[in-house]
Amino acid sequence: RPTVSLPRLRELAARGEPVAMLTCYDATFAKVLDAAGVDALLVGDSLGNVIQGQPSTLPVSLAHMAYHTECVARAQTAAWLIADLPFGCYEASALQAFDAAATLMRAGARMVKLEGGGALAETVRFLVDRGIPVCAHLGLTPQRVHALGGFRVQGRDEAAADALRADAAAMAAAGATMLVLELVPAALAREITAAHPQMLTIGIGAGAGTAGQVLVLHDLLGLTAGRRPRFVRDFTREPGSSADAPGLPISAAVARYVQDVKAGRFPDERIHAF
Ligand code: KIV
Ligand code: NA
Repeated sequence: RPTVSLPRLRELAARGEPVAMLTCYDATFAKVLDAAGVDALLVGDSLGNVIQGQPSTLPVSLAHMAYHTECVARAQTAAWLIADLPFGCYEASALQAFDAAATLMRAGARMVKLEGGGALAETVRFLVDRGIPVCAHLGLTPQRVHALGGFRVQGRDEAAADALRADAAAMAAAGATMLVLELVPAALAREITAAHPQMLTIGIGAGAGTAGQVLVLHDLLGLTAGRRPRFVRDFTREPGSSADAPGLPISAAVARYVQDVKAGRFPDERIHAF
């Protein structure tokens, strides 16, 4: 299949076809996800949780991110490849962010993602002006989990919603071409999506009104221990099937995720949204 470029992602969004994104941390899964038609792979710093067994994404280093980005990039996928800038390697200055972003681009990323709004606008502009496509990330931003007081829905009251609107506008004005919205009420995510058609919104726990969806691969495969967040669905299980029914193979589960995102069947706002 043809390589997924930024214009291609924009074309999907323009014709109302949701972008299907998943996290990915190694070459084997990269090939499986690519073959299943996933549009974009995110080497997320969620690898701290699902690969390293850390309690949060805070301990993830730039070297860890570069290593996993190289592993995924070696699969030479058609899918667009995004890598997370990890905590502590981009917040201090635009120069610091550029050095870290360059490391991830050299490792094979085509775009970098960073958490934050207005305070990071100058940094986003700095990267974009130097040829690095940027995805911003707003709402529940896991690198700020301690400041946010836990993993909870963001932008619920009017003041918080206004702050989120302003951060999204700042990111769009700074030239971010993609925006992940995590744990945001569906109506607010829909509104931000409509307000910034040039910035592709990708939702996780943000309802069905964004230009695309992303999930953590291990959540989709039902491998994550403990309480499952409401916005997650285990795609290895048929909806409503009994717990002892045989599960779908990985490639089929991923293909179903792609189909359900494209057809607007996932997320189901009655179950997965706030
Ligand atoms: O690290 C990650 O997996 C992410 C997604 C959940 C958006 O940032
Ligand atoms: Na992340």
